[in-house]
Parts: sequence; structure tokens; C-alpha cells
Amino acid sequence: MKEVYQVPASQSLQGDVIISGAKNAVLPLMAATLLCRGTSIINNVPQLDDVDTMADVLRYLGAKVELQGSRLTIDTRECDGYQAPYHLVTKMRASIYVLGPLLARLGQASVALPGGCAWGPRPVDLHIAGMQALSAKVELSHGNIHAHAGRLKGADFTFPISSVGATVNLLLAAVLADGTTRLFNAAIEPEIDNLVDQLNAMGAQIFGKGSNTLVIEGVAELQAAEIDAIADRIEAGTYLIAAAITKGKLTVKQVQPSHLTALIDSLTATGALVYCEDDSITLDAQRRTLKPISIKTGPYPLFATDLQPQWMTLCVSLAGVSQVTDTVYPERFQHVAELCRLGANIRVKGNTASIIGTPSLSGAPVKASDLRAGAALILAGLIATEHTDISDIHHLDRGYQNLIGKFANLGVTIHRHASHTTDCQTKTTPLLSLCG
Ligand code: UD1
Repeated sequence: MKEVYQVPASQSLQGDVIISGAKNAVLPLMAATLLCRGTSIINNVPQLDDVDTMADVLRYLGAKVELQGSRLTIDTRECDGYQAPYHLVTKMRASIYVLGPLLARLGQASVALPGGCAWGPRPVDLHIAGMQALSAKVELSHGNIHAHAGRLKGADFTFPISSVGATVNLLLAAVLADGTTRLFNAAIEPEIDNLVDQLNAMGAQIFGKGSNTLVIEGVAELQAAEIDAIADRIEAGTYLIAAAITKGKLTVKQVQPSHLTALIDSLTATGALVYCEDDSITLDAQRRTLKPISIKTGPYPLFATDLQPQWMTLCVSLAGVSQVTDTVYPERFQHVAELCRLGANIRVKGNTASIIGTPSLSGAPVKASDLRAGAALILAGLIATEHTDISDIHHLDRGYQNLIGKFANLGVTIHRHASHTTDCQTKTTPLLSLCG
């Protein structure tokens, strides 16, 4: 059944939000369990559709996967499958993370090519070039990547551009390769560090964590381990921006403030007050006049592309002119047309959107084209008059755990309805029951 979120015009957000584990950390951690035969544990796992999809991929390969609360158990003792089919990969691009570990442990892998996504082409050429550098033979046919190798051989590989996904896949392959691999210009996102910690706990020999040169001494085998997923910096950032947009005051808890430096600096530059403690960040925008701040996305620690759409909503809400440039995904502007349906004034040229702030938005039906675009529309709905109905919310189910419950704690009642009854009189379902 298709559903919509109905977001009411809201008062200032007030309160605390406990931030969930990061899906972008958990998905590589799950793929890494394929490198051993044993029972691995991942803690702080969010209940999200993307986690379910990765669980289905692992089950298809022969693993037993069970999520109890936020504790995920993955038993790979009888896991010998080497094929990830299109019907699973097409649901979630990160399925391609199984390529490296399958190739490393079984000597072969057949993974469907993920294709593009809502914000344009998303190539996997670097994943493939990396496997070839480790001596794998790779063929593309019938929409699949077929890779095989005896034992992979360690090698030097330089990423021409920083890529989170390709760094994940190369790490997952190189840990079991014969000899030394050196990865230059590797991604340094916190989710990569989380993966390095897990792999080293499994017995891998990876040096240089946190730097963009990673040295991996291949080992013959790895053992199962237990790891805690890091907090979701994008979820935390989304709620902080929501507080700024509504001139509220909220604290995101169980986060790592150092993972959000670029956002914190940009929020501070708007005029909001931002306080950090060891594992929490408070934003106070009450009774303050904020000004829009231009941002440019880039690889970590620069401003995250996954917070770009939400930041654009903030710029829309503030008087003044600003620009949002995405250098990571130059076509990631699907949310612009939907924001304009709500009354925003945005022009896109190349990889830059120019925004003239609007005193008020008016609620309307809009469509989430992807996960973070959906988040941007939720935030816009908070400041639009009347209510905003957001459709295609399956995208939000991929990345925001208990969105309704978390907003309810902040004083906002978002409803989830069947999409053919957007007038909220009938078939209203209490959101908490649907969001678990
Ligand atoms: C990951 C995140 C995604 C986030 C993105 C950028 C996960 C599951 N996904 O995606 O949420 O938006 O990082 O922070 O963690 N590129 C190539 N060839 C490749 C791979 C990437 O040209 O083989 C390019 C991309 O087009 C893009 C840049 O490299 O311009 C960075 O992409 P990358 O970091 O790989 O993004 P993902 O890992 O797909």
C-alpha cells in the first residue's frame, strides 16, 4: 500500500532526540561478516529498510541473519553463495559491497550492476578497477559483474577521486589478499574507520586508520567479531537543521560531535547557538534571526552531500540569498522542483542552486524522489502553512528510524496515511505503530 506522511505546520521544535546507529556504517559492517565462517554481532543497528535489504542479500548467499532490538547476529557458517541478483541489488546500491568479500573468500562473485539513481549516474568503475588491481578477472555481461580470482594479490591502488563505496569494497577484498595492499586517496569518512575497527577485530592487519593512505597486510583467514556501529551523523544533522528551521532548541544525543564539524560550523555561521558535549550536540535558535549561509559539499570532513537537500530547505526558510553547490553529486537537485511547489525560489545552474529566501511556504502534495530529498521535504513541511503531504515515503523508511516517534518527542505530530486518503479524515494510522 502506498502511503504519505502528513507534516503539519509546526511550532519550534523542543526536546531531545536519541540518534540511531548509522545505516551507512552498518551496511559495510554486514558485508564484512562474509569474510569469515562464524557468528558475528553488530550492535547499535537501526531498524531500516536498507538493513533489511542487506539482510536479504546475506540470506540469499546462505547466511542466517537475526535482528533483536538493535543487536544484529549474522551466522555465515554455511554461507557459500556467490551471486547477488538484480532484484536485490536494484533495491539498494550498497548491495555491491558483497563483491569484495565474496571474491576474497570464495574466489568468485557475481553481482548485478546497480544502475543509476534518482540524482543521476552513480558509476561503480572504481570498485571494478580496484578488484582488477588485486588481480581479479572481471567481466561485465547481461547486467552483471562477474569476477573471479585464485587468491587475490595485494597491490597499490590510487583512487582518482575519493569514493566511500569503492574504499569499502577494496578494504573488504584486500584483507584476505596475498601480500600488501596500499590504498592511496582512500575515503576517510567515519564509517570507513568503523569498518577498519571491525576488520581489525576480526584479525585483519590494516594500518593508517583515519588517514587517506591505508596499508593492508593480507591474512589467510578472519574470525567472527563483535562491533558497535557508530551513530548516524546524517540523521543527527537532519534534526539539528530542523531545529534551526523552526527556531527551536533541541539536543541530539548519543552522537560523535567531531563527525559533524562542517555542519556545526555552518550552523554557527547562520547565527544559531551550538553547544557540544562528549556525545551530544545542542542547537538553540530561539528568538534569533538566522542568516542563510552558502555551502559546498565535498568528501569528509567537508560538508556532507547527504545533508545538502536539508540545508537547502534551511536556506529557503531564511531571508537573504545563498548558494548550495554539490561537488560530490552535481545532479543531486531533485528536491528543488518539489521545494518550489511549496513556494521556494530556487534556480539551478550546473552543480549550484541559488536560493532567495521566502518568508513563508504553503503546504502542498509533494513527492520524495530519494531518501535525503524526502528529509528536506519533511523539514519544509514544518514551516509551510496548513499541512504538507509527502508521497513515495518508502525512501524515508530506508534511512530514518522511528521518524514519527522522534518528531513526536519534539512536539510535532506527523501522520502516516494511505496515499488515496490524504485528507486525513479516514484511515489515519497512528504512526508509531507503523514505524516500530
Ligand atoms: C556513499 C553513501 C551515500 C553518500 C555518498 C557520498 C553509503 C551506502 N552511501 O555512497 O549515502 O551520498 O557516499 O558521501 O554509504 N564514483 C565514481 N566511480 C565509482 C564510485 C564513485 O566515479 O566507482 C564517484 C561518484 O559518482 C561520486 C563520488 O565518486 O561523484 C563519490 O561517491 P561515493 O563516495 O562512492 O558514494 P557511494 O559510496 O555510492
